[in-house]
Amino acid sequence: MTPTIIRDTLNSVLSVQKVGKDQKMKPKTGIDEIQPYQGGKPIEEVQRTLGIDNIIKLASNENPLGPSPLAIASMKEAMLNVNLYPDGNTYYLKQDLAKHLSVSPKNLILGNGSNEILQIVGETFISANNEVIFSESAFVVYQLVSKICGAKSVIIPMLNFDQDLGAMADAITNRTKVIFVANPNNPTGTMVTKDQVEQLVEQVPKHILIVFDEAYCEYIDRPDYPETINYILNEKENILITRTFAKIYGLAGLRIGYGISTPTIIDLMNRVRQPFNCNTLAQVAAQAALKDHQHVKESRELNEKGKTQLYHFFDGIGLDYVPSEGNFILVHFDSSGQKIADLLLQKGVIVRPVAGYGFPNSIRVTIGTTEENQRFISTLTEILQTT
Ligand SMILES: Cc1ncc(COP(=O)(O)O)c(C=O)c1O
Repeated sequence: MTPTIIRDTLNSVLSVQKVGKDQKMKPKTGIDEIQPYQGGKPIEEVQRTLGIDNIIKLASNENPLGPSPLAIASMKEAMLNVNLYPDGNTYYLKQDLAKHLSVSPKNLILGNGSNEILQIVGETFISANNEVIFSESAFVVYQLVSKICGAKSVIIPMLNFDQDLGAMADAITNRTKVIFVANPNNPTGTMVTKDQVEQLVEQVPKHILIVFDEAYCEYIDRPDYPETINYILNEKENILITRTFAKIYGLAGLRIGYGISTPTIIDLMNRVRQPFNCNTLAQVAAQAALKDHQHVKESRELNEKGKTQLYHFFDGIGLDYVPSEGNFILVHFDSSGQKIADLLLQKGVIVRPVAGYGFPNSIRVTIGTTEENQRFISTLTEILQTT
């Protein structure tokens, strides 16, 4: 005879299975509210769907100069070893990056794009009952991370295209866990200054992590841009900086970015990170790109030249725009930005509509080569004359 306790357990397991069979699969709370991330359309997709050639993409803030030639050479060599797993600790890249940033390798974590670092922040620190503070019209991934973690997003209104760090500090409650600051912000291109950051850092209690997302920092040459690495060097315990090889280093397609923080924070995040999150080619290319100062210099110069070219055009035809610290510009129109983006797309120029960021009458255009910018200028002029 089966003892009662075993029989009851068996029955309860069987009944759970029976109920489970009839139930629908449900995601975690909040997941079905997330809108899938809409990136800039790839050139191949536009070719395939619209049947047109000669397409330019100014939609995802990539480097129009391409990757560093040194990065290409290093990838060619490393290609032969892709039957082996990559270095799961990104040892050599961390060594080089640490030297480049004057920090210790213990201050660094590498990710599959800086987006992955943002996601690891969520997985490591944010629980369902927490609050996450970031600005309205800030880079979309902060909201995504907050939602994935089931936390409450506390969205602070912008002050005329600027993130309001004072209001962010005022919004702190006993549930706040992370504050995200994009510097400069995408899609507005605006930055927060050293003094503003200093005030925020002073006001935020040390159990709350402040993430400074500096994906475009290498384009900035302003004396009032905050040197946030100094906080790490001074062992400030609640700061994380994220940066990327996707922008000025021209390696967006390889997905490689990094975080800089105290060894304690990095150690916690490393426990959550997937074992081989940065592939072999990305690692060697990033090492080479770091050393290619000429490529970085040329990329910065091309960006400045393109910015001047586009500002000149916008000023000339009276289009309003937000002066940018990055490699992209937010431009305003009298009517739907989506419509302008669609018309540009039909003529082979991919830009980004930004209604989802709260700018229904604007587009974001990445600064391209002189020729790409000229193509954008003439195509937009044609569109504005005929609509
Ligand atoms: C502000 C900001 N942060 C982070 C990222 C993500 O960069 P990555 O390609 O390194 O994931 C982007 C990409 O556009 C961005 O604009």
